[in-house]
Amino acid sequence: MKGIIVFASKYGSTAEYASLMAQKLHTEALRASEVPSGAVFGADFIVLGSPIYSYSILPDMEVFLERNKKLLAEKPLAVFVVCGDSMWNPKVGEGGNKNLEKLTRFLPSEPIAVAVLGGRMRMEELDEEDGVKIRAFRERTGREHTGYDRMEEGGALDFINEIKNWFKSSGT
Ligand SMILES: Cc1cc2nc3c(=O)[nH]c(=O)nc-3n(C[C@H](O)[C@H](O)[C@H](O)COP(=O)(O)O)c2cc1C
Repeated sequence: MKGIIVFASKYGSTAEYASLMAQKLHTEALRASEVPSGAVFGADFIVLGSPIYSYSILPDMEVFLERNKKLLAEKPLAVFVVCGDSMWNPKVGEGGNKNLEKLTRFLPSEPIAVAVLGGRMRMEELDEEDGVKIRAFRERTGREHTGYDRMEEGGALDFINEIKNWFKSSGT
């Protein structure tokens, strides 16, 4: 079975998850905006990953999903979203599932595996527009202007195992 991982990422945390997954699944991680033609057609399964920005997935992922709608409908799909705030973690509240829905709503079929993974934000890395947005959000919610690192390799490995188990139990 040869799959591909297609991801979108602005500051690199989703890209890091994608390359860890690629290593574990012995496959390639490709940016949604740079997927060569034929790659989707040739893949036996596809892992899709996007961070959540202002309650949405990144536009590059949305464009990829829209363009490849027909082909994706014929493949097993596994999806993950990467998000910031701990309150978005499904272990803590409902938010994670809401974030997941921002990606699954575009899928042509029920995914074989899903994951909501903690992300990372380094204030010093943000471009001007994002810096302004985050500071305004923090003002409104009375939080400090500090970054965070909630990257969780364990969650990504669980997700990979879920994908592998699906193939084992489906006998493919
Ligand atoms: C401007 C901005 C808006 C964000 N909006 C959300 C959001 O709506 N929900 C959320 O859970 N995380 C939000 N985040 C956190 C990102 O999802 C998190 O930092 C993620 O790890 C970024 O992924 P990337 O490094 O792959 O770009 C936001 C971050 C920024 C900078």
